[in-house]
Amino acid sequence: MTENTDLALQQAYDALAATYDSNRGQFDMGAVLDDFMTRLPARGDLLDLGCGAGEPFARAFLDQGWQVTGVDFSAQMLALAERYVPAMKRIRADMREVKFPGGSFDAVTAIYSLFHVPRSDHPELFARIRHWLKPGGRLLFTYATQDYSGQERFEGHKQFMGQALFYSHTTPAELQDQVSGAELRLESAREREIGGERFLWITAARDEVPTIERAS
Ligand SMILES: C[S@@+](CC[C@H](N)C(=O)[O-])C[C@H]1O[C@@H](n2cnc3c(N)ncnc32)[C@H](O)[C@@H]1O
Repeated sequence: MTENTDLALQQAYDALAATYDSNRGQFDMGAVLDDFMTRLPARGDLLDLGCGAGEPFARAFLDQGWQVTGVDFSAQMLALAERYVPAMKRIRADMREVKFPGGSFDAVTAIYSLFHVPRSDHPELFARIRHWLKPGGRLLFTYATQDYSGQERFEGHKQFMGQALFYSHTTPAELQDQVSGAELRLESAREREIGGERFLWITAARDEVPTIERAS
């Protein structure tokens, strides 16, 4: 994605923030949230990449007593987040450019956002996410497939809520290679239809590496 495409996507989200907000209730994320939370500790730190208005993910985690950091490059989407989830720490940035110390988070989410990042940038982003996760931590993200784009591999624009938005994905098999290439273990891949849109929902784990106690 060129700088122009990045800016266009950011501006498109600024422009559709109000529409997105009024339509968000059509997406019932209850089953996704419940499934993800069963894989996590009762409390911890969540990083939400492309957090948008912070609904419903950031809010659900905050309600459970988690600390949540949200990253988004749209000022208007973050303005909604400030209204809905003031307790979330907000960072206005491109998710490919933020930096955190290693082992900062128990969970990382990219809900309906990673598919806006070019697939050629995914391997490096997965590697960064692995670095940010604590051992045993989990990643959850939404992934577009042929069901959504009509093509096995896709990179281009599609209309969403009156805006032409950039989307990018490869095949599920290549995605699996990218995830394992970043030393994340693919834990679950499930197609779900939510709000009339069919996407793949992926959970991956940064496994704890067992250590062998040395006998003294
Ligand atoms: C479809 S919205 C999803 C928002 C939220 N995760 C949700 O589930 O409602 C996608 C969000 O990702 C953000 N986004 C897309 N590409 C991004 C990038 N490279 N860096 C940061 N934010 C990005 C957009 O600004 C937008 O707020």
